[in-house]
Amino acid sequence: MFNISDCRVIDLPKHLDPRGNLSFFEDSNQIPFQIKRNYLIYDVPGGETRGGHAFFKQMEFIVALSGSFDVVVKDATGDMKRIQLNRSYFGIYIPNLIWRHMENFSTNAVCLVSSSTLFDPADYIRDFDVLASNKPTEQ
Ligand code: TYD
Repeated sequence: MFNISDCRVIDLPKHLDPRGNLSFFEDSNQIPFQIKRNYLIYDVPGGETRGGHAFFKQMEFIVALSGSFDVVVKDATGDMKRIQLNRSYFGIYIPNLIWRHMENFSTNAVCLVSSSTLFDPADYIRDFDVLASNKPTEQ
């Protein structure tokens, strides 16, 4: 079972260039999984929240391609952490079985999510009690 300390910021390689900078990430090198899918969240109206669930299997790497937003992660024990993403050269890795949502989107924020799985509605955990019931029992 993962906890919020497993959710970590990953700094991407940076090629600084007077023509414009370049960063990249690829399967299992900069991020700890193979990418099966990418999706984008954009045109988020002020004050809106995205996410608000966990996944049984899906691992993610989230980057702010433009603008800024906060990623709030919560593990099965209820421990929480907030990370602001505001540059294209770092992102947050979130393992499976971690509750997360995104909020405080700036105008024109673009969120890229790279996922370890194809889209599967059955992989969503939308009830926090289901996640919490997965927490390790005291020995
Ligand atoms: P959802 O994952 O619920 O959004 P959020 O990240 O805010 O929780 O997805 C919203 C809708 O988009 C839902 O109808 C499912 C659909 N969807 C896909 O068809 N493919 C995808 O890869 C994703 C992420 C969502």
